[in-house]
Formats: sequence, structure tokens, C-alpha cells
Amino acid sequence: MLFSERVFCGDLTPNDIGRQVLLAGWVDACRDHGGLMFIHLRDVSSIIQVVFNPEITPPAVCERAASLRSEYCVAIRGEVKNRATGTENPGIETGTIEVMATELTVLAESDVLPFAVSEKAMVTDTAPIDREQVSEDLRLQYRYLDIRRASMRRNLTLRHRIFQTVRSFLDSRGFVEVETPMLTMSTPEGARDYLVPSRIHPQSFYALPQSPQLFKQLLMIGGMERYFQLARCFRDEDLRPNRQPEFTQLDIEASFIDEEFLYELVEELTLRMFAAAGISLARPFPRLTYAEAIETTGSDRPDLRFGLRFVDVTDLFRETQYSIFRQILERGGCIKGFNVKGASSSLSKNVLQNEYAKEIVPSFGAKGMTWIRADNGGLESNIVQFFSERELQGLRERFGAEDGDVLIMIADPSYAVVTSALGRLRLHMAERLGRIPEEGFCPAWITDFPLFESTEEGGVTSSHHPFTAPDRTDFDPTDVEELLTLRSRAYDLVMNGEELGGGSIRISDREVQRKIFRALGLSEEDVRERFGFFLRAFDFGPPPHGGLALGMDRTVSMILRTPSIREVIAFPKNRSAGCPLTGAPSPVKREQLAELGLLNLNAQAATRGVSEEDGLDHLSWVSRIGFKAEERPVLVQGLDEAERLALAALEKAADIAADREPLYTVVRATGRTRPGTEPSRSELSGSGDLFKNAPSLKGDYFKVAGILE
Ligand code: AMO
Repeated sequence: MLFSERVFCGDLTPNDIGRQVLLAGWVDACRDHGGLMFIHLRDVSSIIQVVFNPEITPPAVCERAASLRSEYCVAIRGEVKNRATGTENPGIETGTIEVMATELTVLAESDVLPFAVSEKAMVTDTAPIDREQVSEDLRLQYRYLDIRRASMRRNLTLRHRIFQTVRSFLDSRGFVEVETPMLTMSTPEGARDYLVPSRIHPQSFYALPQSPQLFKQLLMIGGMERYFQLARCFRDEDLRPNRQPEFTQLDIEASFIDEEFLYELVEELTLRMFAAAGISLARPFPRLTYAEAIETTGSDRPDLRFGLRFVDVTDLFRETQYSIFRQILERGGCIKGFNVKGASSSLSKNVLQNEYAKEIVPSFGAKGMTWIRADNGGLESNIVQFFSERELQGLRERFGAEDGDVLIMIADPSYAVVTSALGRLRLHMAERLGRIPEEGFCPAWITDFPLFESTEEGGVTSSHHPFTAPDRTDFDPTDVEELLTLRSRAYDLVMNGEELGGGSIRISDREVQRKIFRALGLSEEDVRERFGFFLRAFDFGPPPHGGLALGMDRTVSMILRTPSIREVIAFPKNRSAGCPLTGAPSPVKREQLAELGLLNLNAQAATRGVSEEDGLDHLSWVSRIGFKAEERPVLVQGLDEAERLALAALEKAADIAADREPLYTVVRATGRTRPGTEPSRSELSGSGDLFKNAPSLKGDYFKVAGILE
């Protein structure tokens, strides 16, 4: 068979009628019409109907065709024909033509499928086949079959198109793609690192990059001026539908620029990425400060596709007799709400009071919710009788209330509780009432973030990362109150309630960088140890620079409107950070661990004369429980005590065991699943000696002790 003659199904049109063609692909579906056999042949481009007609197709070919099953890989030669009137299939692109087969080669058979791959109906006038409700883990286990589905192939192909658009656009603007290391030092993006042990340097680890942040800044100091990279990043954090342990960022950095340069660049780039999928966006994108976003939507990644913006009504109730509001205001609180226009027919008193006020809003962290329905020229609620006429009139005006509207308010002593609970309620109600337009994309820049957030220990931590430039540099790094008033020169690109990307203008002055580290409570030694190499570069004429990273999985998922970013990643991890296809992560052989110096880490540390505290760090790491410096002595003491008690217990047990039958018998077992080893049964199992001393029986089973390794 000469595959050089092969044509794609999707290339065939009515202009090819009468042409002899060679097609190759998979059997998408088969239909036997009593001798007349039809198949849908699918290749990377499309689907076409192939007919095996005993009047035209040789008998041997018809016989072979009768044995075809879904997903057999085949090559077919035949003639392109017009379909008879009335038998066209508008559900497929080639639905007005078909191929009359004269030759058939089965290139490979297929087992019965774990789930249906076909997405197209064969019969005219039937709805396209719905994606079967297949569990995601099964789809991921057989991802290669899942990718045979046209919709997955479309997602991956469009992802490629968008990536190509990015590369060619940034190239046209003078940006150079540079690869930065995967085996590197920890980068401070706030998640846990994935560590890679070094064989050559036992007990030492590389970290996979959480982002190329440090390297892209070093490239600026290296004079590259305009850098980009479609970079793989790794973060060990809790998974959500829009998060993956490894994901792809479009990472950008440029020198001698300011925020406006990046806004223009990224807006133009975003327009082009969306245009690659046929979607047009308008620019400039609106800009909101962080404070405005929180004040009006309760979120720093607001969904601007619909209204329900917050209105502040605190001042209307300064003199109120309504005791709940009065007490909250006396404690320095606030009252905010929004008007759900025309919703009184959908939001009954029962729903508002029993579902929202009693259940949903408390689950969002607020104590309760006040609701008022505007009807028949008046306002009704379970509490309006407590409001004065002036307060009611004030509410009407402030919310622009008209008959049919529902006013929602949340009051709390904490501004953060009011805005966050109201923000979640805003999304909940918009979704419930179908107020979120399916179509439409609302991008926006969020700016002026707080530079720092407070920590439980009374200090501060960076809201983004410690290289973000502050809005002013004359601050006192030891004055926490002042530090919390600083804004950063950072910006996020958000769309439809999702953060697509973020970045900042960086600190390029080493003294300011030192002040920031001091503010973060890092000692000179910490800084030298973690960032010494980086800070040293700032001693050699660093240019002013800034940049941003766009989460490409999220961006592509947004463009393709997929429910999760896993739909636009060829081989993603599942919800528990595993790969059902390969079984990763998986245990490794002891020899491999030994080679990497990872066996008995503690014992080796001890023999190297390393302090007890290293053992503590190891314990903290494996148990994922952090502890503070002042807790160390107590913990070391506790561990010593535990070890002493354990040894004493062992000694006692040994004494007792000396003159008694052992309670448990440990017998060398042969691995039953390792290839090449014949399964074998311990001779003790037949006699019952194996578990002779097991403490209790349950049905046919012995209860045995759990084993900790
Ligand atoms: P940031 O941490 O905001 O910034 O990340 C940038 C963007 O990357 C995407 N993203 C993720 N996507 C999928 N899964 C994840 N686990 C995940 N984590 C982040 C998001 C996010 O907006 N170095 C800075 C950028 C800079 O300052 O230039 C950084 O990485 O879409």
C-alpha cells in the first residue's frame, strides 16, 4: 500500500466526484443494511461515509468489511460518489458525498472499547451523539482513545494554533524565546516545590520551577531586553478545576518599559489569541483597582459579564432603630447590598429567608442576610417594620428599586466578611437566575494590589512575590502598619471571574529589594542563602524591567469554553494529582532510593554528625506539619522521650518473649505481582501456622496489624 497516495477525508468535496482515492483512518461506526454495509471512516481531518455495495465492491472485500468493528484501523480505496437525494447527512462536513469501496486493508484490529469514541451519528436527522457520561479517570486512563474523539482533537489543535499565534506575535514585537532550567532552585511563588533528588550530590535536591521568575529577571540583567517562554511550571498545591500540578505559562519580561507597555502588548496578544478561535474582543480592557473590585464585586477576579454591583448603604442606617444594624455599626461595621432586578417572581420569601438567609449566606461566612422585595409600590420583608420611612426611601433611591426587584443586604462588623460573602452570593444568585451570559468575554486589568498581607504571627508576607515594586520606596521596613498601606505595581488580567495572568514592574534597586526582604522578616543570612546569587546580579547595573505570566491552560480553556483546564491538556493529572494512564506517581525500587541516597535519611544524617534538628525537619516534611523555631526544643525533647519509652518497651517485650510463644510470626513472603517470579505459597500457610498467633478472626479473615514503613 502506497500511503503517499493517501488523501484526508476532510479534503474531499463534491468536486472530487468520480475520483479514485485512498483513505486511511479508524472505523468510527458501522451499519449493516442486509448486505449493504456502511461505515464512517474517521481520520485527523474529518469523517466520511464509505459504502461496501456487493454490486460494486468485490465479494472478498465485502466479506472483510462485515468483520469490521469500531476503532479498527483501516485503509480503503474507492471512488468518490454523490449521495442519493434524501440520504445526505448534514451532521458531518462531507455529508453530501460518500466513497464506494473497492479495496479494504485492516491495518490493526481493536479490542472492545472501554467507552464510546464516536461523536457523530450515522443516520440522517438524528442528533449528534452526546458525549457519554464516562468517568474522568477512565477517560484519563485511556487518554489515547479519548484523544481520538473529535472534540479533544479540536481542543489540542486549537491550543497549538493559539501557541503559534503567541510565538509569531511576540517575535514580530522583538521578543526572543529563551528556555530556562527545569532542574533549579526553589522559586518563591507561594506553593510547595516538587523536589528532584540529585544522585551526584547525595541528600541534595533540585526544585522544579514554580515559574521562571528569577531567570527571566536575570535575562533582563543579561541585556536580553525582551524575553518570552511557553514555560512548564510545577506547583504542589491543592487542586481545583483550574489548577494542575504542572501547567504552562506564557512568561514575558521586558526592560526599559512601564505598565502601559505591558497593557498594550498583552491586550493586543489576547485579541489575537481569541481571534485564532474566531472570537473578537475589543480593547482597551477596562481597569479596576483592587480596592474598587472588592468594593463593587467582592472579588479580585470579578466576573463583569453581569451587573449585581454592590451599593454601600452604611450611611443610611447611622441613626437606625433596627438593633442588629445598630450594633454592627457601633462596632465599626458596614452594610452593603445589591439589587436583583426583576427577580421577585423567582426569589420567593421562602427561598430568600429559609435558603439564602438561613443556609447559603452563613456558609459563605456571614452571620445572615437581609432581603427586601419591592412590590405594589412598597417594600416588603420580615424586617421592614423596623426601618424608618426615611431609611426605606433611602434604600429605594440608593438601589434604584422598582416593583419586582429584590434588594439583598449583608451587614457585619468586618468589611472583609461583608465583601467576600456578598461576592459569593452575587455569583450564586447570578448563576441560579441565569444572569451569566453564555456568550461573551469580559476582560479587565486589576491594579494597585496591596504589596503585603498580614501574617498570623503579626508580620507581613508578599501578596505576589518579593520582587514586585512597591508604589513608594520611603517606607520603614519595621513598621507593619505602614507596610500594610503600601500598594504594589502589580496587575492581574482577569476574565469572566477567572485570573488568566499576572505580573508586575520589578524592583531594580538593590537597596529597595533589601528593604523588602527586611520587611518580610528574612535575615541577611536567609536572604544570602536563598537569593544570594540573584541579588548579586543586581550589583551589576540592572535595567528597570517588568513582565507578566499568562496561564495558557486557563486561557485556552477560556477561549474554548471547556469546563476544566484538563480538557485542553493532552495528558493532565486527575483531581488527586495522579496520572491514571501511567500510574504516576508510583513507588520506586529500594535500589533506586539507595542510589539517590534517600534510604535512612535520618540515620545517614546522624552518621554525618548532623544535629538532631535535621531529623525534625525531615519529620516535619513527611508529615506536612510545620513548626516554629521556638517549638523545636520541646519537639526534640518529645522525640527523645518517645524514643526512650519505645526502647524500654522493646526491652520489656524481649524479656517477656524470651519465655513465651511469639504473638506474631513474620515469614519471608514472595512478591506475587513482580514479573518473572512464580507465585508461591508459604508452607506455613497450609498448616495455619502463618497466622497462628493472630489475635482475632473475622469471617474467613485474620485481623493483622497495619504495617508502617
Ligand atoms: P502567578 O503565580 O500569578 O505569577 O501565575 C501566573 C498565571 O499562571 C496560572 N497558574 C496556573 N495555571 C494552572 N495551574 C496552576 N496550578 C496555576 N498556578 C498559576 C494562572 C496565573 O495567573 N512569576 C509570576 C509572573 C510574573 O510576575 O511575571 C507568576 O508565576 O493563570
